[in-house]
Formats: sequence, C-alpha cells, structure tokens
Amino acid sequence: MSPTKSRIGILTAGGDAPGLNAVIRGVVKSASRANLEVVGFCRGYEGLVPPIDYRILDYRNTSGILTQGGTMLGTTNKGRFQCTIGEDQRIGISRELVEDVRQTLQDLNIEGLICVGGDGSLTVAQRLFEAGLPVVGVPKTIDNDLSSTVFTFGFDSALATATDALDRLHTTASSHGRVMILEVMGRHAGWIALHAGIAGGGDVILIPEVPWTMEGISQQIAARDAMGKNFTLIVVAEGAQLPGGCHVLQDAPPTHGQVRLGGIGHVLAAEIEKRLDRECRVVVLGHLQRGGSPTAFDRVLATQFAVNAVQLVLDRNFGRMVTYQPPHISSVRLQDATSKLSRVDPLGAEIRAARALGISFGDESSAHNPTVTSDAGILLSAPDSPCDPTLTGMPTLV
Ligand code: F6P
Repeated sequence: MSPTKSRIGILTAGGDAPGLNAVIRGVVKSASRANLEVVGFCRGYEGLVPPIDYRILDYRNTSGILTQGGTMLGTTNKGRFQCTIGEDQRIGISRELVEDVRQTLQDLNIEGLICVGGDGSLTVAQRLFEAGLPVVGVPKTIDNDLSSTVFTFGFDSALATATDALDRLHTTASSHGRVMILEVMGRHAGWIALHAGIAGGGDVILIPEVPWTMEGISQQIAARDAMGKNFTLIVVAEGAQLPGGCHVLQDAPPTHGQVRLGGIGHVLAAEIEKRLDRECRVVVLGHLQRGGSPTAFDRVLATQFAVNAVQLVLDRNFGRMVTYQPPHISSVRLQDATSKLSRVDPLGAEIRAARALGISFGDESSAHNPTVTSDAGILLSAPDSPCDPTLTGMPTLV
C-alpha cells in the first residue's frame, strides 16, 4: 500500500445478486487507471465498524471474477445496519455506528465509499451521506424494485433463471395435463414474475400490483380446457397478496427487519385442487434466482455502473446513485432513489401486451371472491390484524 495514493472504498450489502463481482472488478480496473487504490470492505457495512474487516483490491486478486456469481467481499442482509423494516418503513442508524464508519474512513484515508446495494442498503448509504460521509450508490437487486433506474443489475440474470424454469415446467405440465405453479422472488414488486411469465409463455401471472381472485384463475383454467389445453402454467410472485390482502410468510414476522415472504404457491395449489379437482404441482424457485453467473446484459450494466460510480467519486459528487435510463447511464440523488419503490404499473405496456395475448392476471372475473381457507390449516387474516405467528412448519399469513 502506498500512503501517497488516494483511496476509495467499496462494499456489497444486502442480498447477493449476479453481477456484484462484475461491479467490484469494474471499480478496481477503472480506479487503478485513475491511480486510486481500492479498499474492499467485507460483509457489507459490517466490515466498516469494529471488528473492521477489509482487503486491498487489485488486478491480481480480482482477476477472473467477472463471470462469477456471489460477491468476493461477502455480504449480509442482517446485522447492525438495517434501515428498512417494512414494505415502506425506514428508520435511522445509530449515531455510534455512523461515528465508527467516519473513523474507519478517516483512518484508512478513504476519499469516497461506493455502496453497492438494494433499497435497504442504499437507504443506509443515504443516512451516511446525511451525516456528511462521502458515499455514492450502485443499484443492485434481482427484484428490480429501485426507482430512478429502469434496470438494476441482477434482475436480468434472475429473470433468465426463472424463464428457464418455466420452459422446463412447460413440457412436464403439458405431458401430464397438470396445473403447474412457479413461485418466484421479487419481494413487494412483481417484475420477475411479470417478465418471466411473458418470456416463458405463462398462462396466469399473479403479482402484488394486481389484486386477483380465485374465480379469475379458475376461469382461465376452464377457458384453456375448453380450447383443448389441459395444462396451465401459473407464475406467482412471492409478494402477491392472497384475496383479502394477506401475504404468505415463511416464518414469524421479525421484531426488527424485513419479513421473509414465501409459500404462496403451495396455498394456491391447495385451493385450486380443492376447487377444481385438478392435479397441481408447485416449484418454489427461491435462491436459485440469486446464484450463478450473471447474464451478458448484467455484466455490461454492472461494468458501466462501476465506471460511473468511480467517476462520481473522482468528481466528489457524493450522495448520488448511478442509474440506467436508456440509453444513458447517469446519476440521481440517493434520497430520490430510495424514497419509493419501483413497482409494476398495472396499466403499463408489459401488462397490456400480456393481456392482449390472453394471459390472465387473475383479475378478469367480477364474481364474488370468498375467503380462501386451507385444508392445511393455514390461517388467513385481514392485513391489519396479523394472524397468530406461532404456527410452526407452516407459512404465516399476515
Ligand atoms: O431482495 C432480494 C431477495 O432475493 C428477495 O427477492 C427475497 O424476498 C429476499 O431477498 C430473500 O432474502 P434471504 O436471502 O434473506 O432469504
């Protein structure tokens, strides 16, 4: 380490996404050419505070990582830095943590810190900026739910995995004449489900942004039967609410931090089997969507984000997040980028195109939609009165 060289820091925070290593590589390569030394903090923001954990990044130790999934720096979506505690709830971080970060940046002589993260992690970056620290953000998430950028890196790779899963499910569903349900991630946004549903030839797409009914789904299955199509592919986003407004959770809501969504596919399958006497199978794609090599699109996007983030630091243009507004890579204030989530527009072009093909969003029926009950004993409740979270081994509905 040369003490005369200027230094920048980088960290990857929140859930991992394909393309994180491509950003790290892009930062190291472009920063080195600008004669900057790069300090990589480990496990997200945690590495910035005692016990401080970092490594100096250079050409040698970042060589060959462009194609690798995950992040060589490690990450966490738990720990001491949590600003996102609900769908739309934000909180601060403690003064002690901020002062610890300030001290670390000062001790290591870091002139600018590049924070690569999603909604929650970039809210932390914004809090640090508000405290006077020199940070810039890079938008990462498979959910594609950050506003101010048309695409986050990671989304395209997750979409490719979900589409591939649908392609595979198509053949087995048609061979057996089954209703096949694919549950995908995306938290409170339906981007992955919507795009995979269109790309993979889904028949029903259920997303958080479009309220649906069991009658709507039944009608689509019946309509397909009438056309001689005895199988139906349903793509459901983990964050889609059941009729009545409940979410399905994997475990009890935490006292602090985000709920773990997941399990709606099984609730849906049980309901379809009960109502229609049709054989259903469910695949919950889960973390397969987060792993593996980034697509070419994500590699290119991640690389462009990296180079532009370094430029923001060189320009001392802090408190900003790089964005992709085709055809431009530019930047916006972190505050604007994190103040609201990007969700699917129910009247947007993708949904209109899908409807024009006859894809159902489960909302076509105006028939009465009775409360969904489950043979498995899963409780449903109104969104404002969370059900008993002590159910064990069952998804929780809130
Ligand atoms: O935000 C990315 C994401 O993969 C969501 O789609 C999903 O709900 C969540 O993270 C899963 O988080 P974890 O890795 O904690 O299970």
